[in-house]
Amino acid sequence: MANQSIPEKFIYGGDYNPEQWLDYPDILDRDIELMKKARINAVTLGVFSWSVLEPEEGEFHFEWLEEIVERLYENGIRTILATPSGARPRWLAEKYPEVLRVNQNRGRNLYGDRHNHCYTSPVYREKVWTINQKLAETFKDHPAVIMWHISNEYGGDCHCPLCQEAFRKWLESRYQNIDALNHAWWTAFWSHTYNSFLQVESPSPIGDDGLHGLNLDWMRFVTAQTTDFMCHEIQALRETGACQPVTANFMEDFTGLDYYEMAKHLDIVSWDSYPMWHRREYIQTAYKTGMQHDLMRSLKQKPFLMMESCPSGVNWQDVSSLKKPGILTNSCLHAIAHGANSAQFFQIRQSRGGFEKFHGAVIDHYGKEDTRVFREVAETGKILESLAKITNSRVEASVAVLCDMESRWAMENARGPRNKGLFYHDAVLKSYQAFRKSGLNVDVINVEQPLERYKVIAVPMLYMFRAGIEEKLEDFVKNGGTLVMTYWSGIVDETDLCYLGGTPHGLMDVLGLRSQEIDGLADGEVNHLLPAGENVLHLKDSYVCSHLCDLVQLRGARALMTYGDNFYKGYPALTVHEYGKGLAYYICADAENRFYDDLYQAIITRQHIHPILDAIPEGIEVSSRNGETCEYVFIQNFTNAPIPVAIPDGAKILAGDYAGTVQGYSTVIFQR
Ligand code: GLA
Ligand code: ZN
Repeated sequence: MANQSIPEKFIYGGDYNPEQWLDYPDILDRDIELMKKARINAVTLGVFSWSVLEPEEGEFHFEWLEEIVERLYENGIRTILATPSGARPRWLAEKYPEVLRVNQNRGRNLYGDRHNHCYTSPVYREKVWTINQKLAETFKDHPAVIMWHISNEYGGDCHCPLCQEAFRKWLESRYQNIDALNHAWWTAFWSHTYNSFLQVESPSPIGDDGLHGLNLDWMRFVTAQTTDFMCHEIQALRETGACQPVTANFMEDFTGLDYYEMAKHLDIVSWDSYPMWHRREYIQTAYKTGMQHDLMRSLKQKPFLMMESCPSGVNWQDVSSLKKPGILTNSCLHAIAHGANSAQFFQIRQSRGGFEKFHGAVIDHYGKEDTRVFREVAETGKILESLAKITNSRVEASVAVLCDMESRWAMENARGPRNKGLFYHDAVLKSYQAFRKSGLNVDVINVEQPLERYKVIAVPMLYMFRAGIEEKLEDFVKNGGTLVMTYWSGIVDETDLCYLGGTPHGLMDVLGLRSQEIDGLADGEVNHLLPAGENVLHLKDSYVCSHLCDLVQLRGARALMTYGDNFYKGYPALTVHEYGKGLAYYICADAENRFYDDLYQAIITRQHIHPILDAIPEGIEVSSRNGETCEYVFIQNFTNAPIPVAIPDGAKILAGDYAGTVQGYSTVIFQR
């Protein structure tokens, strides 16, 4: 059983790799001094330390790690200790080639790189078990070690014979008999019928890669097998008596794994945040990153950790843009505003050689404190220390966006109606940022999570209905909730078989319509949404839409907007239907952002939902965390110019300079 106490201060620190510097004792000494100056209170150790911890099979050297953990602790710095499975030593691959991954074309990789082990291999599992147990034996009672960081950024798949066998077993327990599998995968199509589970092979470009049921189940299996591997790692720690909470670091918009599934087995969710601030308007990047923070928080409906972020330029992005002054602090506080209880960096000290020698770090090759980046890190550390009481608060959201990975896998794998891009992530982001611009906290949930706590739920492009989501949504609306569903929803069941008898499946009565056909628009082709006369939401503008246009037949719903062009000019483009005590809106086409902004603002006004602040200027993001008796409000300016923002009388400023305006790239936090 994990000890899950919430830290009384924000965790502030990051990845530290002293194993690269064991021959430089003076550097290690200086690092500790610098960390203290930056108010760093925790480091992540051991992420890629296996070859130093076990340089030869069965020969363990933990002394250096024990010493550094101890010395950091004496200086007030605690340790998040990683299991080293993210990169294996050379000897292991040489002696046991089965630990190396086999790719889709059935070729075995050579030794190299990282994050590339076979997660089925009994040998790899045994070796990981052993080293995890030894680490647990050494550190389970050490007061410095506050958490286990399991592996690093799990991802990828393996097509080796061991994984094929495990896949077949997994399928057998899912379907029981081969006829059920044949029906679910619709294998009579192209004569692909299986006679036995033994004939199943994972998807491959040199074999089957267009059997959608197979592809979907493979993705599910990869999540199941990775989760099983992760649980095996955790089990090794637990069986040795380690009780500290466990986390695993997730990635942004990563579609290789279903994090909702994995999170069930972790005590704390964490993720690695590397926004490309230079790619678009800063506020747009803030929305995109904020959505990811909110998804991570929603996985367990609990505070999460920002396990990694870069203090300056990231070496693997297309351009290594420096973070402008203020952005480092703003990014850290942005994570906290969205419910993180930490701000951590990759990494504390920049490596001298190797792939990441030019990746930003708290301490760069110069090695001293008089750098722009170090000063901002230290400044942020000071702010976080002063905000310690906020750790006991939580983000509460009255609205949610539904985002389901299984549905996304199936939808993006299908052929048609638009193979040039369906823009799922953008569709989710459009609803998300419209809520944010209206001044609301937002949860990002999947179909398995409870819905009752919300007033409005956005359901963009939920292609697959599974886990009884249609019944849950019906109840939600019946009981007074507001549903906003979009085109291309409720098309297939959980095995990716198309629903018969009309779509959106099971919700045609709730929405008061049936989707009849969907038009794919070429790149650059557009249609328009025009207001349908006087409408309840008072929408007056016209909007551009692209990519997909759903042609619906009304069965009780009213059209609030209609299409402006093509043969379906005049057909409904936005509808509303009263059902039970609630309302169900249906957006027929992929409309521009401005449409979503206006629509959600109108819905929120109509439903009398109170925003955190009344007027939110362009470029400002507002979010809040609720404590026992008060609320903490974060106002963040993601432009370079000061912006006037009104805050309520009597609000107590906790951080930032406020004199009617919020300075460029800065944050004001107040309590009320
Ligand atoms: C990932 C990894 C880190 C490091 C950073 C660099 O998030 O987990 O080990 O490579 O990227 O940005
Ligand atoms: Zn394998």
